[in-house]
Amino acid sequence: MSGKPLIVAIDGPAGAGKSTVARRVAEALGISYLDTGALYRALAFYLDGRDIPPAESESLSRALEEVSIDIDGEGVHIDGKSVGREIRSPRIDGIVSAYASLPMVRDRLLSLQREQGERRSIVADGRDMATVVFPGADVKIFLPATDEERARRRFKELESRNEPVRFEEVLEQIRQRDRTDSGRQTAPLRKACDAVELPTDGLSIEEVADAILALVRKTSK
Ligand code: CDP
Repeated sequence: MSGKPLIVAIDGPAGAGKSTVARRVAEALGISYLDTGALYRALAFYLDGRDIPPAESESLSRALEEVSIDIDGEGVHIDGKSVGREIRSPRIDGIVSAYASLPMVRDRLLSLQREQGERRSIVADGRDMATVVFPGADVKIFLPATDEERARRRFKELESRNEPVRFEEVLEQIRQRDRTDSGRQTAPLRKACDAVELPTDGLSIEEVADAILALVRKTSK
């Protein structure tokens, strides 16, 4: 692809299937997938491991200056080490939003995300892709789904990984995460005014991906 990179921005609440859909859309278009949730998760994992609580402080500021975060393809590296499944644990699910609500943390990750969209065409998913990180994105999608549907998907995923959890716990955690993500001052989760809303309840991953691909094709004509 030549010229200005194409940016497809996908936002939505926890467990709406954004990452699976975004990865598929990226594959179909032959461009890269940027998982911004992985950046927040990796940083939460790093800070939690250093006993730095989710509050703006001297120690947080120092840690954010010292840590090196790199994106390599779809992978995230913290201080040169690649992070994997450990950032998808119920523990990180429970604490990531508190870290992500801190302006210091969001500032630290902003230029890193924008650089990715300057270098290459991407499908990026998160909470503030269309509103803050890529306000000039070519295609903006908002993917909602009911909390029960999202909890069912997340529960299945954890079950398949043999993580011992109860459905009610997963549902409550999803609701709690939505409250924190939507209620924060900096870059709250919300639909950009020019985003297309695609409710995903009852739709398969393929159907959602196809709907997004149709929008991308219409835009790039
Ligand atoms: O996959 P799931 O929807 O459960 O979450 P995720 O995309 O991995 O994001 C994990 C958390 O990171 C979210 O609940 C937000 O608190 C935070 N996040 C954010 O604040 N902004 C983003 N662009 C992406 C994630």
